[in-house]
Amino acid sequence: MTNETGSIICNCNEILYSEVEKAIREKKLMTIEEVGNETTAGTVCGGCVDEIYLLLEKINGKVEL
Ligand code: FES
Repeated sequence: MTNETGSIICNCNEILYSEVEKAIREKKLMTIEEVGNETTAGTVCGGCVDEIYLLLEKINGKVEL
């Protein structure tokens, strides 16, 4: 699976990878919970949480849980 920035990361809320990535960078988000609060990604079925985790790891180098 690839992390296409123009594609949807969270199907439930139709959130794009690029939106989550932007929020993480601009707001300096560190946790899945913070991403959910900012973008609503990951707050419904939780099926995209793994992808959010990978994005946090890619951008921050690590993930705070
Ligand atoms: S796909 Fe993101 S919460 Fe369901």
